[in-house]
Amino acid sequence: MPGNNGTVGGSPIILGAGEVDTSVTLCGIDFKNPVTVASGTFGSGMEYNEFVNVERLGAVTTKGVALTPWAGNPTPRIAETYGGMMNAVGLQNPGVEEFLKTDIAFLKEKDTRIIVNCCGHSEDEYCGVVERLRDEPVDLLEINVSCPNVKEGGIAFGVDPHALEHITSEVKKRAKQPIIMKLSPNVTDITEMAKAAVAGGADALSLINTLTGMKIDIKKRAFALANRTGGLSGPAIKPIAVRMVYQVCHAVDVPVIGMGGITTWEDAIEFIMAGATMVSVGTANFHDPYATLKIIEGIEGFMAKEGIHSLDEIRKCL
Ligand SMILES: Cc1cc2nc3c(=O)[nH]c(=O)nc-3n(C[C@H](O)[C@H](O)[C@H](O)COP(=O)(O)O)c2cc1C
Repeated sequence: MPGNNGTVGGSPIILGAGEVDTSVTLCGIDFKNPVTVASGTFGSGMEYNEFVNVERLGAVTTKGVALTPWAGNPTPRIAETYGGMMNAVGLQNPGVEEFLKTDIAFLKEKDTRIIVNCCGHSEDEYCGVVERLRDEPVDLLEINVSCPNVKEGGIAFGVDPHALEHITSEVKKRAKQPIIMKLSPNVTDITEMAKAAVAGGADALSLINTLTGMKIDIKKRAFALANRTGGLSGPAIKPIAVRMVYQVCHAVDVPVIGMGGITTWEDAIEFIMAGATMVSVGTANFHDPYATLKIIEGIEGFMAKEGIHSLDEIRKCL
């Protein structure tokens, strides 16, 4: 007889495909698996359609959308770094009306959950986009109050606990869908920000957004990015992200979507053990468009090999 620790006489049980359940529930919504994509790194799925059947994903998290079109920052906007990249795209987007016509029109036909990432220059703009999405086929809203690359809005709300609590409560009043507040790592105490967002009514949290960095091109004696600073992402930030997810999961009671440098299924499991309900794959999509699919298969394989029936058995296990 198998023991309840998933072993028979100390050897791992090999579960059959039907015995492994990768599904998760977040804010009362079921997802077929815990893997989504990090906003801004996967378009809205259409751009990756040739490589990734988005119906394999637990959810698609879209690029950030605002009430009106944004041009983004001047170029260059992207620079490579050790173990990652820096970007200062500046939340370029076509505005919510065009987004609904193209991106949501594509996604609503797919058998996957839709998380729309929202941005704004002011509280009114955040509220406006959230209101506009009320009756659209969108499962959850992720509110980006943590982008380091826009001068107004973005991170201004994400690094001040009072501003964060206030904008969360304003957005929450207007939203029909559950709201996920996306936290910035560019703070001294991430748990203070998590508590502020939860006090404002956040249904879930996602973290981390990028860390502010700078790169100098020594031959040109110039900044590598026109914006001078940019958001660092990729494997280089993963240990910071795991630490912050762990701290937040032990500080508040709402579910967490963990991200920051996830490149392999082992990384994803690490975030789940730290307490994340779901995980987002970001920068990894740029060097391997199949990264999400490999991670989903890897999680399934790990569960089968370790005798894990449900991810609840290993979430927040330490
Ligand atoms: C090119 C690029 C664009 C991004 N755009 C957004 C965005 O529109 N909204 C947002 O909340 N985060 C955005 N992010 C942050 C990612 O969603 C993610 O939080 C961060 O990159 C850490 O994950 P990673 O290391 O796996 O990429 C962007 C990141 C990159 C690299």
